[in-house]
Amino acid sequence: MELVESGIIGLDRILGGGFPKGRTLLVAGPAGSGKSTFGIQFLYHGIVSGGESGIFVSFDEHPEHVREEIRNFKWDLSSLEKDNLLVLIDGFSPRAGVSSEERYITPVDVDELITLLVEIIDKTSAERVVIDSITALALSMASEQQIRRQILKLSAVMSSLECTTILTSEMRGGEVSRFGVEEFMSQGVIVLNYEYHNNVAKRSLNIRKMRGLKHEMIERPFSITQNGIIVHSEEQFYH
Ligand SMILES: Nc1ncnc2c1ncn2[C@@H]1O[C@H](COP(=O)(O)OP(=O)(O)O)[C@@H](O)[C@H]1O
Ligand SMILES: [Mg+2]
Repeated sequence: MELVESGIIGLDRILGGGFPKGRTLLVAGPAGSGKSTFGIQFLYHGIVSGGESGIFVSFDEHPEHVREEIRNFKWDLSSLEKDNLLVLIDGFSPRAGVSSEERYITPVDVDELITLLVEIIDKTSAERVVIDSITALALSMASEQQIRRQILKLSAVMSSLECTTILTSEMRGGEVSRFGVEEFMSQGVIVLNYEYHNNVAKRSLNIRKMRGLKHEMIERPFSITQNGIIVHSEEQFYH
């Protein structure tokens, strides 16, 4: 199986090389755990190091806010966007019921999203896609069965286009997914956690069900820096 570099510093070593190319992974965690950062970092690395264009579908925040937050990091997205190496899709405005000046807009609908993704992938040859988050998509669906079917369809289409895809999922109350989606993410599930100790966030990451791993679950501390997420080895302290 071909692997691609995740771009998350320190992660590929644990994964045995990287993410399986053309597969779909779930990155789950509570609000503020670093899911969007993880996704952007994965795309940014693909563009600047691997020559792989990327697409970021933002359902949770307006793309303008995503761009603003990325300015906290040492990543220059504006030139990448100009060159169509990175495409941001606004899935937020239709959800919020406001108009949008963005170039690419999608309603909260898996079929319409797939159509738009296929069109953009055709144009830009994107090889990495992040959907932030599928919680937003799932909330728009009527039943758990429909959620599973649609997410499975999305992941099958991305796979057929050889796009490595990250779905983020908002965790509440310790559940990886409120919708049972993780059962279908046979390629891999990464859980981001954080808790506060003396007002300092201790962040850690669990890897579940990642193909090529010897262990079912590995837990590692990580920090978020100006260079993005850095995963530490076990003996290193939290930051
Ligand atoms: N430059 C930075 N240095 C350190 N931490 C940062 C930086 N920029 C953002 N963060 C941290 O990253 C967190 C945001 O993570 P984010 O990816 O938006 O989480 P999620 O998408 O899971 O809600 C913020 O709460 C902040 O603590
Ligand atoms: Mg987020």
